[in-house]
Amino acid sequence: MLTAGARIPGHPPPRRVIAVGGGKGGVGKTVVAANLAVALAQRGRCVTLVDADFGAANLHTLFGIDRPGPGLGGLLSGHARTVAEVLCRTSVPGVTLLPGLGAVPGSANFNHGQKQKLLAAVRAAGGDVVVIDVGAGIAFNTLDFFLLADQQLVVLTPQMTSIQNAYAFLKAALHRHVERSVLQVHAMTLADEARAPAVEPVAVWLARTSREDPAAAARARAALGRLAVRVVGNNVFHDKDRAVVHSVCRMFRDYLGAPVDVLGVLRASRRVHDSINHRRPFLLEDAMDDNSRAFHSMAEALLSLDAEELRPAADGEGAHQEEPDENAAPRPGGSQAPAPGAAG
Ligand SMILES: Nc1ncnc2c1ncn2[C@@H]1O[C@H](COP(=O)(O)OP(=O)(O)OP(=O)(O)O)[C@@H](O)[C@H]1O
Ligand SMILES: [Mg+2]
Repeated sequence: MLTAGARIPGHPPPRRVIAVGGGKGGVGKTVVAANLAVALAQRGRCVTLVDADFGAANLHTLFGIDRPGPGLGGLLSGHARTVAEVLCRTSVPGVTLLPGLGAVPGSANFNHGQKQKLLAAVRAAGGDVVVIDVGAGIAFNTLDFFLLADQQLVVLTPQMTSIQNAYAFLKAALHRHVERSVLQVHAMTLADEARAPAVEPVAVWLARTSREDPAAAARARAALGRLAVRVVGNNVFHDKDRAVVHSVCRMFRDYLGAPVDVLGVLRASRRVHDSINHRRPFLLEDAMDDNSRAFHSMAEALLSLDAEELRPAADGEGAHQEEPDENAAPRPGGSQAPAPGAAG
């Protein structure tokens, strides 16, 4: 049994949760999560790194760990009762791993109750900073771990496919955030979603709702304003690709109606590539380069944001609340508030 590192003497920094997503597989989410955790730990923070890539967990490999133990899977199977029992020490001072589910067939298909258990485990993970490596795709099981965080990072590369998937991912996440946290559409069922037409951009929905239900639109704006979404451009070969990352970010902001800024841009680099097979985050190497400088400045920028201010109010407007079971049977009569974009 292991407790997530000792606190730094003096005033403890506020606890914050950072999620790293992006929609597309292979864009560098795990590389970003692992090296960001190292950069934060090098700033004296106790970091708990959560592997929430269900079905494809491999954060432990990046830290050279062969047997990470039962991890989150142990909590689901009942082999462990507390998060502390399944935390796994890494060789990096200040970084503790909460391993994922393991590659057991079917393990990624957990039900609503199991998801609640996993979300609660992540919330209960100790440390000054929790960094969640979120898997690819836009399944609710993925989005909910992304939205659990105080600060959301979207990793993308300057390629059409990555930009498309990042946009779809962010749009799905914002819709879920608005539906669940703002309109409190607790009884929306999978069947309802299957019947709903394709969702419209959040900005369009906001403009329409401002006319139809100004109070709901105001609540939506407030909640969206509290999301702290930052884009990390990865695998950039040319300087002109940096400009692409910035213009994509502007496009996201305009279409989605939510504050989205660039946190940093990382170059395609042999060192990063080789660090995977060396099973050691590249930031642990002594030599500085553009990417290590970018990671340090991203860590500084994230820590400079006030996590307490970003955290949703305890009155239920936010990601920390108990959420509805989307697999639940429809309510008799089924009168539900419309989901953003589900109408018109
Ligand atoms: N900046 C970079 N320079 C060079 N190679 C990189 C860089 N970032 C990522 N890679 C390469 O891309 C591969 C995929 O990265 P990573 O596993 O972090 O992606 P991912 O988004 O987590 O993928 P998945 O969705 O499958 O979990 C790495 O194994 C590495 O070889
Ligand atoms: Mg990954």
